[in-house]
Amino acid sequence: MTLKIAILISGRGSNMMAIHQAIVDKKLDAKIQLIVSNKPDAAGFGYAHTHRIPVAVIEKKNNENLVTYDQRLIEKIESASVELVVLAGYMKLLSKLFTDHFRGRVINIHPSLLPAFPGLHAQKQALEAGVTESGCTVHFVDEGCDTGPIIAQKIVPITKDDNEESLSSRILVQEHILYPECLQLFAKGRVKLVEGRVLLL
Ligand code: GRF
Repeated sequence: MTLKIAILISGRGSNMMAIHQAIVDKKLDAKIQLIVSNKPDAAGFGYAHTHRIPVAVIEKKNNENLVTYDQRLIEKIESASVELVVLAGYMKLLSKLFTDHFRGRVINIHPSLLPAFPGLHAQKQALEAGVTESGCTVHFVDEGCDTGPIIAQKIVPITKDDNEESLSSRILVQEHILYPECLQLFAKGRVKLVEGRVLLL
């Protein structure tokens, strides 16, 4: 069954592109119903326009609080009748209203082996901690910061010559493989969130 998705971005959008490419290559049975950004100048929009993927910009209004903003975001996503919300470099906090509304239907990718190094600059955190491996994680989103139940991970070894840039780019290569693979699990109905735990079928 074709999985209908919305992808939320704020910037570069390379994971969004990898997901779209996997669909074109028929490795992923999904359809991108909508790309949403909180930034009107998100670099990923160029790709979306070229490939005729519908986009929406939802900008924060002056004095608008997060809940009111997320209410508008929810309405936009629901109007596109999507089954799964895919966060791909969406750099805005999500309210509990949003995470409760989409519980079990919203996932994120993070550039570390969670629960290690949540939050910003995960690759730098890994280098500073002196660990010998890091990687990326796809997880369900809950109200915490990168705390939701883990669906899948890929390990990336860290070499002694690594810096933030080199490690980030090697992790990104794995992100572009892992995210479409995880989405295909959803398309096949092989992953579910049951009572707060990931069930892989
Ligand atoms: C990725 O490293 C992802 O793990 C993190 O934000 C970055 C987004 O990159 N959540 P892109 O916009 O998909 O290129």
